[in-house]
Amino acid sequence: MKAAAIVLAAGAGTRMKSKKPKVVHEVLGKPLVRWVVDAAHVAGVERIVSVVGHERAQVEPLVAGDTTIVEQPERRGTADAVAVCRDALADFDGSLVVLSGDCPLITSDTIRRLVEMREQADAAVVVLTMEMDDPFGYGRIVRDDEGQVERIVEQKDATQAEASLTECNSGFYCFDARALFDALGQVDDNNAQGEFYLTDVLAICRAAGRPVLALPASDVAECLGVNSRLQLAEATKFAQRRINRAHLVAGVTMTDPDQVWIGPEVVLEQDVELLPQTFLMGTTRVGEDSLIGPNSRLTDTVVGRGCTVDETVAVEAVLDDGATCGPRAYLRPGAHLCEGAKAGTHVEIKKSTVGKGSKVPHLSYIGDTTIGEDVNIGAGSITCNYDGKHKFATVIGDGAFIGSDTMMVAPVSIGAGSIVGAGSTITKDVAPDALALTRSEQREIAGWAAAKRAKQTAE
Ligand code: UD1
Ligand code: CA
Repeated sequence: MKAAAIVLAAGAGTRMKSKKPKVVHEVLGKPLVRWVVDAAHVAGVERIVSVVGHERAQVEPLVAGDTTIVEQPERRGTADAVAVCRDALADFDGSLVVLSGDCPLITSDTIRRLVEMREQADAAVVVLTMEMDDPFGYGRIVRDDEGQVERIVEQKDATQAEASLTECNSGFYCFDARALFDALGQVDDNNAQGEFYLTDVLAICRAAGRPVLALPASDVAECLGVNSRLQLAEATKFAQRRINRAHLVAGVTMTDPDQVWIGPEVVLEQDVELLPQTFLMGTTRVGEDSLIGPNSRLTDTVVGRGCTVDETVAVEAVLDDGATCGPRAYLRPGAHLCEGAKAGTHVEIKKSTVGKGSKVPHLSYIGDTTIGEDVNIGAGSITCNYDGKHKFATVIGDGAFIGSDTMMVAPVSIGAGSIVGAGSTITKDVAPDALALTRSEQREIAGWAAAKRAKQTAE
């Protein structure tokens, strides 16, 4: 598809009552403006121009990688926002889609349909319209006696009769780029808001004799603009339903889809099961037959097949096939559970590998550590990896058995097949197959406790 797009993202979004510009706010972990830019990419749009303005330093990094950035110095209206793209698109001819950076639910399908409809009719513009029970605030589509689109009138400029129209402008269009930039020169700010309205371009094109068409939206939710926190929550609800429905259809089980939040980039294989209060965000992927939840939050985490992830928080972690974690595990960046490995209850793991079949079942902190295969780490064992300034590594060889309550003071290496006695503080390397223990010897005084009790009774 040979098309370009302009994404309007210069507005402040006053009604959000926020320090952040509106389009930076997130729906399911992805900024509003990214939803729009990504939909344009998926639709096959070749070239995207982002119009930034208010707090541009916060918006720019989100779109700098894959769009051309143009600044609108002053917010003088939607026509002005498009006009500032003139130079960036000087060499472009053809279908030019205009998208609002604050409407995250627009689909690539609809963008494609706008372009196709414009091309088929060689129209000057196709506007996406929506039928609203409560049209207040939107621009209204005014049609002539033959039902053709004549112009768009904004709420604040509408007569009573016009205000009673329920067909509204969604703010999404596909223009013939040449016709658009020609018409923009004729748009003035002679209206109730003193703004340059992009919507005026429709009447100008019609007067020039070019077809001006409307495409009714198949799903009004697609056009939902986010202007307030209320609408941000609404958009999140719609996005959650749309994403969850697609996964359910594709063979994922959810006990209660309303209690599962899945980001748009997440990949789930067949027969994954998601229990309530589960959040899968970012680039998280989950393999076949894995069970996640309840109460789990996975961000940018890769889970293999047949894993169990119970009440776990994981960020940038990797679980190979058959690994298990939780309840109440915390896997931090760089945590890697190899095949069949286990991170159990109240276990925190950071930047460490737990080898194939190895277990860290209870109450442990493992950081900057490489654990070999079939190792058992006893309850309450901790790698002391930090001296207040630097981090140090711990290496534990295959088949080692670490007794409960062991402190491993890094840098330290514990040999394969060795055993560390419970309660030891290991500060020196342990040779393979050795027994290491740092416990003081146990003393025992026969009858002492009974004698004490007898004395207390006599008092
Ligand atoms: C606009 C339409 C209206 C439509 C509605 C749909 C006009 C004149 N009106 O109204 O017909 O029903 O969208 O939601 O276009 N922006 C800029 N620079 C500006 C002004 C706006 O970048 O100078 C951006 C905003 O940040 C926003 C988008 O353009 O993303 C739409 O602007 P907004 O002021 O929200 O338009 P509406 O009044 O909602
Ligand atoms: Ca406005």
